[in-house]
Amino acid sequence: KRGKRPAGAPDKALAKPVTKIGVVGAGLMAQQFALLFVRRLKVPVVITDISQEQIDKGLAYIHGELDKLLAKGKLSQDDANRLKALVSGTTDKADFADADWIIEAIYENLEAKQNVFAEIEKYASDTAVLATNTSSLSVEQIGAKLAHPERLVGFHFFNPVAVMPLIEVVKTPQTDDETLSTAMVVAKKLFKTAVITADTPGFVVNRVLAKVLGEAMHAVDTGTPFEVVNTASAPLGLPMTPFELLELVGLKVGAHVLDTHHAAFPDRFFESRNLHSLAEHGRIFERDGKGKIKGFDKKAVEIV
Ligand code: 3HC
Repeated sequence: KRGKRPAGAPDKALAKPVTKIGVVGAGLMAQQFALLFVRRLKVPVVITDISQEQIDKGLAYIHGELDKLLAKGKLSQDDANRLKALVSGTTDKADFADADWIIEAIYENLEAKQNVFAEIEKYASDTAVLATNTSSLSVEQIGAKLAHPERLVGFHFFNPVAVMPLIEVVKTPQTDDETLSTAMVVAKKLFKTAVITADTPGFVVNRVLAKVLGEAMHAVDTGTPFEVVNTASAPLGLPMTPFELLELVGLKVGAHVLDTHHAAFPDRFFESRNLHSLAEHGRIFERDGKGKIKGFDKKAVEIV
C-alpha cells in the first residue's frame, strides 16, 4: 500500500516547490493555519489583512501559541525564536511578489474573494499557486476574475486547525495537475490527510455537518426547547453538541454554511432565523458552572 496515490491525485513529481507563503486575511482560521505552515514548512509566512489591528492580533496569536509549545517542551527556545522570525505581517500585498503559495481566508463573500484574487494576481509571480479556504462558496466562481484560474485550488481546513486531521483539496474544472499536486504535497507536509473533492456546495464535510447542525437549529426554530435538542444529541457520540460546534466555527460562518446549502438545495436544507439572529447580535450561548452550553443568551433574540 505504501506510496499509493490518494484518489484522483496527480503525480507528486509535478508539485511546485513552496519556499514562501502568503496568507490573505488574519482572522480565526488564517491565524491558525499560518501557525501550522510556519511550524511544518519552516519557510517565511507573510500575513496580510486590510486591518493592521487584525494583523497584530494574528501575529500575537501565533507568538502566543509558539510560547505555549515552548512551555510544553514541544519546541526549543531557538526553534521558537526562529519560527517567530519567519512570520511577518503587512497591509501591502506587494510583499507577495516572491511567494509561491498564496492562500486566502477572508470573510465568506463571493465578490470580496473574487476581488482579492484579482488583486493578488497583479502582485503574485506567474508561477505562484493560489488557494482558498472557503467553507462553502464555489471555488470556480471565486476564481472567475483570474487570468489564470488553472492555478487556483480549494484548500479547506477544519477548526481547530492544529488538531483536525483533514484537508479538503477542492478541484475545479480548471485546476491543473501542477496546482493539485502542489496542494497534495503541502497537505502532506502539514501532516494532514488530504482528500480531493469536487467543487460542489459544502464539498463533503460541510454538506454532512450542515445537515446535523441545520436539523438541530431547525428543531429549536420550530419549538423544541434548546436543552432538549442539546441533551438529545449526546447519543450521536460527537465530540461536541451541534450548538457547541456552531460556536466553535463561529455563528456567522455557521449561518453562511446553512444559507449556502439552503440556496443550493432548498428541499434538503433549512435556513435558521434564530441562528441568523444570534450571529447578527454576535451573541453566544449561556454556559453552566462547568462551562457546558445550557441555553441561548436570553438577551440575544426572539427565540421561537
Ligand atoms: N488550538 C490548538 N490546539 C487545540 C485546540 C485549539 N483551539 N483545541 C484543542 N486543542 C488541542 C489541545 O491542546 C490538546 O492537545 P494536547 O493533547 O497536545 O495537549 C488536544 O487538542 C485535545 O484537547 P482537549 O483535551 O482540551 O479537548 P478535547 O479532547 O475535548 O477535544 C476538540 C477538543 C478537538 C476541539 C474536540 O472537541 C473536537 O474534535 N470537536 C469537534 C471539532 C470539529 O468537528 N471541527 C470541525 C468544524 S467544521 C469546520 O471547521 C469547517 C468550516 O468550514 C465551518
